[in-house]
Amino acid sequence: MPDFEAAPVNPAVRLASLARTDMAGVEALIAERASSATAVIPAIAHYLLDAGGKRIRPLITVASARMLGYQGRGHLSLAAAVEFIHSATLLHDDVVDDSELRRGKRPANKVWGNPQSVLVGDFLFARAFMLMVDAGSMEALHVLSRAAAVIAEGEVRQLAAVRQVATSRAEYMDIIAAKTAALFAAAAQVSPILAGAPARVEAAMETYGRELGLAFQLVDDALDYGGVAVELGKNTGDDFREGKITLPVALALEAGGDDERGFWVRTMAEGRQSPDDFDQAVTILKRHGALDATLEAARGHAARAVEALDAAPDNVWSQSLAALAEFVVERAY
Ligand code: IPE
Ligand code: IPE
Ligand code: MG
Ligand code: MG
Repeated sequence: MPDFEAAPVNPAVRLASLARTDMAGVEALIAERASSATAVIPAIAHYLLDAGGKRIRPLITVASARMLGYQGRGHLSLAAAVEFIHSATLLHDDVVDDSELRRGKRPANKVWGNPQSVLVGDFLFARAFMLMVDAGSMEALHVLSRAAAVIAEGEVRQLAAVRQVATSRAEYMDIIAAKTAALFAAAAQVSPILAGAPARVEAAMETYGRELGLAFQLVDDALDYGGVAVELGKNTGDDFREGKITLPVALALEAGGDDERGFWVRTMAEGRQSPDDFDQAVTILKRHGALDATLEAARGHAARAVEALDAAPDNVWSQSLAALAEFVVERAY
């Protein structure tokens, strides 16, 4: 007989409910600091910020601070700063990737233009730095500003790797560590800094964020082939069209013969694609179990994120952070 359990609550939602007072404070700061007398700035900023992002990164900051018993308000400024850095990178990333869909809508650059999007991204970065200064911790400022630089390095490295079918698994992991995991790591690390937690807890939270970030991007890259656009709010097939060699393709390249290699070289290295090629790519990936293997890798990193929490206090916040790590991988099934 089937086991009728209550429908599982999305841990991101449970965490959001636990953190709702703090997150309301973060949202208020976000709205306040997105303002400008230069009308196009709040127009573009709100277009993106109000479009329903998951707010995973600021949630991590807020939950980590509460987990450690932090009583001040600095975590709200840092959480808002983290979401501003994320938003700025999305504005820039959609220009770089020439994407057609972001959070279920046309990306800002397709509505206002590339120059406007790039400049408003710069504005959000600058406002992020002002928020970090407000939090009053030089160490947190150091961690987050370093993450901002590392993200840019990751995006530039990815650009250089486009259409390079020789991109190794190690190079791919380095790229996603920089472009995605660095911000997750910083989002988790700044709260122990604010809370004055022991160095070993700070290091553990950095690990939690980094491993979660790696899992998150691996899942995102699997979903680019196996997901559903309306659920993602982003188009599938973008990586294939752009010639971005992500782990699924790197694995299929390792496993396949010369015929398949010819297919990847034509479609991804040379960018010569016909309308059926994306379906063909998915068929090849599935033949080699490359999407499952990518999700398996993600599961390994999520498990390491959960393990890192052993060094943190065991309470409702750390339990929610653990559930969030598991959910990040489960969303792919
Ligand atoms: C998108 O991040 C960029 C990646 C690192 C894949 P999210 O999936 O967290 O985006 P939003 O904020 O929820 O839209
Ligand atoms: C998102 O990267 C931007 C950063 C992580 C800086 P991607 O290009 O891989 O993600 P999506 O698919 O546009 O969200
Ligand atoms: Mg992109
Ligand atoms: Mg990109």
